[in-house]
Amino acid sequence: MIQKSPEKVLIVEDEPDIAFALKLALEGSGYCTSWAGDGEKALAILQDDSEYNLMLLDIRMPGIDGVEVLKRTKSTGRDIAVIMMSGHGSEELAVECMKIGAEDYISKPFVLDDMLMRVERALAHRLAVLDKIRLEQEKDDFFLMLSHDMKNPMAAVIGSIDIMREGRLGPVNDEQIEYLQSAIDSCNEVVTMIDNLLDIRRFEAGRMHLNIRPCSLAEICRKVVGQLARAAERDGITLSLNIEEGTSDVSADPNALIRILGNLIGNSLKFTPEEGEITVSCRRIKAPGTKSINIPEYVSAPENFSEAGCFVVLSVRDTGEGIPSNELKCIFDRFTQSSSTSGRERGGAGLGLAFCKLAVDSFRGLIWAESVAGQGSEFTMLLPCAN
Ligand SMILES: Nc1ncnc2c1ncn2[C@@H]1O[C@H](COP(=O)(O)OP(=O)(O)OP(=O)(O)O)[C@@H](O)[C@H]1O
Ligand SMILES: [Mg+2]
Repeated sequence: MIQKSPEKVLIVEDEPDIAFALKLALEGSGYCTSWAGDGEKALAILQDDSEYNLMLLDIRMPGIDGVEVLKRTKSTGRDIAVIMMSGHGSEELAVECMKIGAEDYISKPFVLDDMLMRVERALAHRLAVLDKIRLEQEKDDFFLMLSHDMKNPMAAVIGSIDIMREGRLGPVNDEQIEYLQSAIDSCNEVVTMIDNLLDIRRFEAGRMHLNIRPCSLAEICRKVVGQLARAAERDGITLSLNIEEGTSDVSADPNALIRILGNLIGNSLKFTPEEGEITVSCRRIKAPGTKSINIPEYVSAPENFSEAGCFVVLSVRDTGEGIPSNELKCIFDRFTQSSSTSGRERGGAGLGLAFCKLAVDSFRGLIWAESVAGQGSEFTMLLPCAN
């Protein structure tokens, strides 16, 4: 059986009587303690031994005081919990110490039971923080694995199939080309899914680097519609683009916009049957909230949104299966797919719209969905004009 070693507490206190009382109480409760009579000794002990879980740190000491010991310890990034011990009149300083990273403080003279309760609480909190850090690290490792061990090989697979499809390894007939193309499309779907997952993670961790600048929405629409035209044709769907004159540039990250539009049209292709229609359109409006656009009630716009100048309305409308009205809001949540559509049968992870929402939010825009079940859906975005 693995035996858990006792938690180690470093008592940093220049008054031997107090240090001794602390030692007796802590060891009586199963902790292992060491004593440092001043700040220098405390720092030296911590440097030699990285196993300490908690430090009880007196604020006023000759030489390096407790505040300085705390600062130096925290600056090394050590995961030790610290409880400050303040004498009469130094409570304010103790509160300041908590801003620098101390878990708690106790005022002298202290009641031993209260001190023990605080020690236990600080250690439990430290463990919870460490668990959280470990979990975040594991998540990061997983995402790194996704991008390196899955996405990169997918690119190699797509490249190889493409060489065959182009007939560079020998002649291929139309049927073979169709199968090879469908294999490429499926691989690309997986790559998009991984990209969505990675970007959602980046947004969550505050590490998404967007390059928001004026960009031509018309150009981006033409590009994405052009890329998906062949897939639409293959599925017997009419994909059209309608750019109203006077559509201005928008303030957004062009690469993210390409991905957003790719996700929206990709969804429409997935959920629209043969002979259906998909229309992508853009137009400029003065300010939302006016009659020029009707924002559904369930959409919560940021404060002062309607006064934020001019916008371009970008919409993707299809004549597909549609989405029940009570699910229009939650389909933008991660891993959420509508109960009525055949989304699960058609693969997908429910990540595309979550990425779209996070990206549009970061452009200070709005995105929402409207639908009449059975008759089609329309996804609308309001993107701030660049000028
Ligand atoms: N145009 C649409 N028509 C009907 N339902 C849609 C449409 N767009 C989205 N949905 C519904 O919203 C769900 C969430 O869409 P989202 O793009 O987030 O995920 P997905 O397409 O299922 O998977 P992924 O995008 O991760 O490949 C879809 O599964 C589907 O139920
Ligand atoms: Mg999708």
